[in-house]
Amino acid sequence: MKSFLNVEDLGDLKEALKEAKEIKTDRYKYDTLGKNKTLLMVFFNNSLRTRLSTQKAGMNLGMNVIVLDVNAGAWKLETERGVIMDGDKSEHLLEAIPVMGSFCDVIGIRSFAGLSDRDYDYAETVYHQFEKYSGKPVFAMETATVHPLQAFADLFTIAEYAPKRNKRPKVVLSWAPHPKALPQAVPNSFAQWMIAAEKQSLPLGGVGECAGMDFVITHPEGYELDPAFTEGATIEYDQRKAFEGADFIYAKNWSCPGVTKSEDYGKILSKDMSWTVDAEHMSWTNDAHFMHCLPVRRGMIVTDDVIEAPSSLVIPEAANREISATVVLKRILQSL
Ligand code: CP
Repeated sequence: MKSFLNVEDLGDLKEALKEAKEIKTDRYKYDTLGKNKTLLMVFFNNSLRTRLSTQKAGMNLGMNVIVLDVNAGAWKLETERGVIMDGDKSEHLLEAIPVMGSFCDVIGIRSFAGLSDRDYDYAETVYHQFEKYSGKPVFAMETATVHPLQAFADLFTIAEYAPKRNKRPKVVLSWAPHPKALPQAVPNSFAQWMIAAEKQSLPLGGVGECAGMDFVITHPEGYELDPAFTEGATIEYDQRKAFEGADFIYAKNWSCPGVTKSEDYGKILSKDMSWTVDAEHMSWTNDAHFMHCLPVRRGMIVTDDVIEAPSSLVIPEAANREISATVVLKRILQSL
């Protein structure tokens, strides 16, 4: 694997989940695979989970790991071509990338959407520049439009906790309010991965195999995600209807994706607190598990009692980020 951005890059999901289970049983099984190989993790934005889990994954595989926080100690980087660099940016990404590539074997990139230019963000300009100019395999640690390491961990967590009573679990992605404009990367990838899983029988905890899943997205009007990620999904604007019978509630905020009105891209269209996931919302479900990628704003996205309930999966879901990152890095190392 030379690039990891979308679900297709991982191939057969059933195999990937089997591999995740194998790694979780013995996470050091491949601890010599990365000997004398260097992982460079490049962060243009903050991170807690991705930083720790991906670094741990590299160490599980015996790699050397370098972490570069571009905005803390490196030269400030220009990312666009054709500009006159007479401002505060001292170096262009197009020189920095091959220099970075000369010191490592694999590069992970975290680079959020700017949320001002939809075409620039959805072209994944920064990620593709790393692909083109680094000369090394690259993988997304949340880019402008996708967060595949998160979605893989989410799918694995759903596979582990799928209830015995239901061989076709209902999974609901729900928009929830937030005070700041957030990118669409997490919901885009979650939708893409769930839709891919919806069509397949997958190994699920306790029930052997399931016959796929039922996936529903619910959000206020105007928050429609890009169809490239949601084609085939059921969209339900009534949050209560969407929650009825759900086995998993995946809450997340996202700003306007600009699908119906491009001028609204990146804007906050609603802060409707009736969408906050509380105990009443959870009572509409089939004793659903609560999920969120974290970090989460309590009182906005979810109430304290719901996130602290025994059925909340936010901590095992975050812990599974180590597993998804180990599988992805292992695949990349095996293809070097
Ligand atoms: N879920 C996630 O990617 O968390 P961080 O932003 O802390 O890495």
